[in-house]
Amino acid sequence: MLGLRRKYIVSLVVVIFLTWNVLMYFVLISRNPGKTNVESVEQHLMDLQGDLKKQLVDNEQLLQSLRKFRQRALEVKAQKVLKTTTKKPDPPKTKANIDPATVKLPILMIACDRVTVSRSLDLLLKHRKDAERFPIIVSQDCGHQPTADVINKYVKDKSVESHIKVPNDTNSNIHPDLSDIKLPWPQRKFTGYFKISRHYKWALNQIFNVFNYSAVIIVEDDLDISPDFYEYFSATFKILHEDDSLWCVSAWNDNGKNGMVSDDSELLYRTDFFPGLGWMMEGHTWQELAPKWPEAFWDDWMRAPEQRKDRVCIRPEICRTSTFGKKGVSRGLFFEKHLKFIRLNSNFVPFTQKDLSYLKKENYDEDFKKQVYDVPEFTIAEVTSGNKKHLKAVRVTYSTKEQFKSTAKKLGIMDDFKAWGSKNGLQGNSELCI
Ligand SMILES: *[C@@H]1O[C@H](CO)[C@@H](O)[C@H](O)[C@H]1NC(C)=O
Ligand SMILES: *[C@@H]1O[C@H](CO)[C@@H](O)[C@H](O)[C@H]1NC(C)=O
Repeated sequence: MLGLRRKYIVSLVVVIFLTWNVLMYFVLISRNPGKTNVESVEQHLMDLQGDLKKQLVDNEQLLQSLRKFRQRALEVKAQKVLKTTTKKPDPPKTKANIDPATVKLPILMIACDRVTVSRSLDLLLKHRKDAERFPIIVSQDCGHQPTADVINKYVKDKSVESHIKVPNDTNSNIHPDLSDIKLPWPQRKFTGYFKISRHYKWALNQIFNVFNYSAVIIVEDDLDISPDFYEYFSATFKILHEDDSLWCVSAWNDNGKNGMVSDDSELLYRTDFFPGLGWMMEGHTWQELAPKWPEAFWDDWMRAPEQRKDRVCIRPEICRTSTFGKKGVSRGLFFEKHLKFIRLNSNFVPFTQKDLSYLKKENYDEDFKKQVYDVPEFTIAEVTSGNKKHLKAVRVTYSTKEQFKSTAKKLGIMDDFKAWGSKNGLQGNSELCI
């Protein structure tokens, strides 16, 4: 989502600059009415082009320093939070001794002020076969009464186990509360991200330290789910629990658009990109993240090498969630450009009856490498020319950020990258396999 903001800033600057140039051009022309011959127009255009190039370079530099500045500001804040919250550190918790086949996997629904939360809840209830194993807990921030009324109906008929609310108590020491977050203006437009972050922190602490569950599946109030949503998480929990190189299972594929995915709904992968949007983690992971949880942009924070520590997530080829909401902190434009094209899986894959041990690191990595290198290699130009269409898969190699970006653009896949250069990330020669 951050990539979008950056793109937005860059586009804004470029548009303003172009407008300015056009205006200047006409001003200059009107000042020299005698000199409107082709040569001087050409000269003007060349000058403009030169200016534009320089401006683009300047923009990129400006953007980079903005990014650094923001990162530093967040780090300083995170340290402050750390200082105030580490007075009473939780004892480090190790992996709970649990039976993966029966462990309770509560669904934590993060809600705020959208009464359409009922659409998400209805689907969650429709596809749930085992209410004992998958209790639904709705956590609500924002103090929005109409939304609270909607949720309360589900609590009354006992389909939702608990409706917990971020406490409205500005005097208490509970860090997150309903009070307004006051930010200096350059950051004020990010207030929503700060609220979301503190809501997640509060709600996850409830799940693990008050309800004492040993794992959680987190969803938001604008998600539809697939019929095999529970089946997928139920089956992958065992792998998540047993493989220390995994730290999450996600229902989401960032490139899961119609026409971009295979039709094989059984396909699962490991990914070092944290996808979010309907995801599961274990309690010991939360106990590790909670003390340093950031004040904002928690998802990008999780993608940073300091948090991820080379761990990966399981994700499906075809998404098990999709979002219907346009209203959201960052999802408006993103919805129109990407999210509405996401394909939601429609059939039921009996994952719990399948052997998923191929997803464990010791089985997966070698195999995946072999798969990639067994595929013929082409340049992106050869691939996009269309005459490789008869091949089931091709390999495109890139070695720099810029190459990745332009390759991804040409293929119509996500072209923004996070935490570039982390050890296991996109560094050195990497392959895109299509
Ligand atoms: C929170 O509590 C304060 C003081 O009791 C009250 O004035 C305010 O309206 C409350 N806000 C919400 C959103 O409930
Ligand atoms: C959760 O664990 C804490 C500490 O062990 C305990 O005080 C509390 O009663 C437990 N809560 C539930 C719901 O079991």
